[in-house]
Amino acid sequence: MATNITWHENLTHDERKELTKQGGVTVWLTGLSASGKSTIGCALEQSLLQRGNNAYRLDGDNIRFGLNKDLGFSEDDRNENIRRISEVSKLFADSCSVAITSFISPYREERRKARELHNKDGLPFVEVYVDVPIEIAEQRDPKGLYKKAREGIIKEFTGISAPYEAPENPELHVHTDKQTVEESAKIIIDYLLEKKLIK
Ligand code: PPS
Repeated sequence: MATNITWHENLTHDERKELTKQGGVTVWLTGLSASGKSTIGCALEQSLLQRGNNAYRLDGDNIRFGLNKDLGFSEDDRNENIRRISEVSKLFADSCSVAITSFISPYREERRKARELHNKDGLPFVEVYVDVPIEIAEQRDPKGLYKKAREGIIKEFTGISAPYEAPENPELHVHTDKQTVEESAKIIIDYLLEKKLIK
């Protein structure tokens, strides 16, 4: 715990919005492994950038190569993973970018805290449930992780030997067994436009 530190006031988010002519928001994708979070996140990022909105994607696997390389998959480590990403995505949103996070983020309470962290600074937070039946995620198994989890080679695997708490009231709910990646990305873009969160 650091002591003797002082908070320095920055530009307010409204001042930043005025100067950049753009708002900021975090789009928080949550769902099982192989549900399609990263694929939808990529499509969304590309589409937003093409439309002239700043956007940046933070991805579960990728962040664990750097910022969160010290964390594993115990409940405490996952919670610390999500706490850090909540802080980082908040900074992106405050900088008037669209922060797109693709993390399993299996615990409701941690997602609630991420939302609260944004909302207390007046920053919008859009939770998107990337939903797929676990049987289909397991059939997809692009990285062979479900197979290893069933064989007991990977412990604490979400949906098999670790919990996933589905959102109860997300802003958006997409079904990747029924909708294409483009359809899911469009649902998110349309929502952001309707709520005037992007231009
Ligand atoms: S979490 O729960 O939000 O902290 O997880 P996240 O940071 O999104 O990392 C999930 C990716 O890590 C790989 N992986 C595992 N996932 C779940 N459980 C266990 N035990 C595990 N071990 C490794 C896996 O590739 C996840 O990526 P996605 O894209 O979700 O499939």
